[in-house]
Amino acid sequence: MIKIAVLVSGGGTNLQALIDAWKDGQFENAQLSLVISSVKDAYALTRAHNENIKTITIERKKYTDISDFDTVLSAALSEEKIDLVVLAGFLSVLGPKVLKSFENKIINVHPALIPSFCGKGFYGLRVHKAVLEKGVKVTGATVHFVNEEVDGGKIILQKAIDVLPDDTPKTLQLRVMQEGEWILLPKAVSMFCKGEIN
Ligand code: GAR
Repeated sequence: MIKIAVLVSGGGTNLQALIDAWKDGQFENAQLSLVISSVKDAYALTRAHNENIKTITIERKKYTDISDFDTVLSAALSEEKIDLVVLAGFLSVLGPKVLKSFENKIINVHPALIPSFCGKGFYGLRVHKAVLEKGVKVTGATVHFVNEEVDGGKIILQKAIDVLPDDTPKTLQLRVMQEGEWILLPKAVSMFCKGEIN
């Protein structure tokens, strides 16, 4: 059995896409075992409670030192014997302990076509604002493995999505989620469970 932990910081629509895919039987021999939030009141936690998935809150802002946050997160993952870590709107940078223990076993979803509009400071709506300010005509979503470089790990799946003339950051964000992230992230997890990516 592959035990999956999903790390979140916000609304958790990507977590919901994972829950729906799991309930639909798309994750072979796997279970969503744990949801960890770096933010206390994240709505993603409610989504996990609704499905009786165990949750832990490890508030990033409580730790001045990344290495303490890294140690606590690492202990929570090993206590639950997690095999795969999925970052679904997790807005904290991971530390070296977690990265080392889960080499090629951490998957992240990013709301743009990496290597564009990614790296430090590019998260959430900021990404879509930057896309619109630049005037690019095509953006998209990327699912990739996580390494020590922010948004720098090997790319697993990508989908291009048109930017429309009357888009706002919010309309663009929603389309990138609906047509990109909510499809690609469960697909990548399913591929991992089948041993198709490593
Ligand atoms: C998603 O668009 C995700 O790609 C993005 O935050 C949003 C979280 O939404 N992540 C990043 O920008 C990471 N660099 P959700 O909480 O509804 O899944």
